[in-house]
Amino acid sequence: MRPLVDGHGRVHRDLRISVTDRCNLRCSYCMPEEGMVWQPRHELLSFEEIERLARVLVERLGIDAIRLTGGEPTLRAHLPVLVERLARLGTDLSMTTNATTLDRQAADLATAGLRRVNISLDTLQRDRFVELTRRDDLDKVLAGINAALDAGLTPVKLNVVAMRGVNEDEIVDLAAFGRERGIGVRFIEFMPLDASGEWKAGAVVSQAEIVAAIAAVFPLDPVPRGSAPASLWRYRDGRGDVGVIPSVTQPFCGDCDRIRLTADGKLRTCLFATVETDFRDLMRNGADDDHLASAFAAAVGDKGPGHLIGQPAFIRPRRSMSQIGG
Ligand code: GTP
Ligand code: 5AD
Ligand code: SF4
Repeated sequence: MRPLVDGHGRVHRDLRISVTDRCNLRCSYCMPEEGMVWQPRHELLSFEEIERLARVLVERLGIDAIRLTGGEPTLRAHLPVLVERLARLGTDLSMTTNATTLDRQAADLATAGLRRVNISLDTLQRDRFVELTRRDDLDKVLAGINAALDAGLTPVKLNVVAMRGVNEDEIVDLAAFGRERGIGVRFIEFMPLDASGEWKAGAVVSQAEIVAAIAAVFPLDPVPRGSAPASLWRYRDGRGDVGVIPSVTQPFCGDCDRIRLTADGKLRTCLFATVETDFRDLMRNGADDDHLASAFAAAVGDKGPGHLIGQPAFIRPRRSMSQIGG
């Protein structure tokens, strides 16, 4: 076993696999309302190809956690079949989803071996949900959250992107929603990965503001920081914890242990990477497992120190979040 170490000494153990770029919602910060062109089926990795790359990464290169992402991963046909194959690798196996289809799919995914889900939801208000996602699907998401809890896809976490003038007035309501249900809510600082390119530093609601808003209503104590991107606070009354992913105001790139495979088989060593390595073409051109393993090691070896959000040298990646997978 040769762990995936980069030139900055960071060991990579966490693999995020996007299984489709499609989504049934149209969150304005992630996708344009019209005109999305989905990648044609033959351009996506097949389940066999995904399983092969994951196996090389787990068995030879020390990856011990796999997360499925999209677009919306549950839109990929026969997803439980892939989950069952990946579950055999014995890693932590989780998924990030908008939950709209979990009412129908949570039980099958859990049976196939999915362990837990993180659910994206930015508002509890129906009109605002329609405005933000351009779909009237809040009820489906709420049903999906219950289905995930019922299926034991736990701990269920809720991801909320906090945006100035959009949902900052709901921070306490969303925190309360999680407290009441035993769901860990994580507020995410808005990053410049939006499809419209409208991100401005002023649109970011900072970790400090988020924590102050919650603590004013539900007193909090900080939890010492681990290597996960979320900083955690514990409710003083013992009702669980709440997190913030402070990607902009307190970047955690120095602890980053993630690599990402896009649905069309490109390896990205950072959310904000501007170079990708094409593993689909390598495989389709006959590379053996040794070749794949060295290509992974070389790509991770070249990983940059981190993102430069807010600095003059920052370059926005060509892909938006829906095509990277978050
Ligand atoms: P857990 O293992 O459950 O903690 O999951 P996670 O937080 O890694 O996964 P999730 O897909 O729920 O990610 C939540 C959000 O954190 C993402 O949507 C991103 O906005 C942000 N995020 C995740 N990974 C990275 C990363 O490597 N860099 C940065 N800057 N942000 C990230
Ligand atoms: N900044 C921060 N988080 C984002 N997400 C999507 N776009 C952005 C952005 N620009 C989050 C989604 C979801 C995850 C996949 O990424 O809300 O939780
Ligand atoms: Fe879909 Fe998630 Fe993007 Fe929203 S954030 S459009 S749910 S992929």
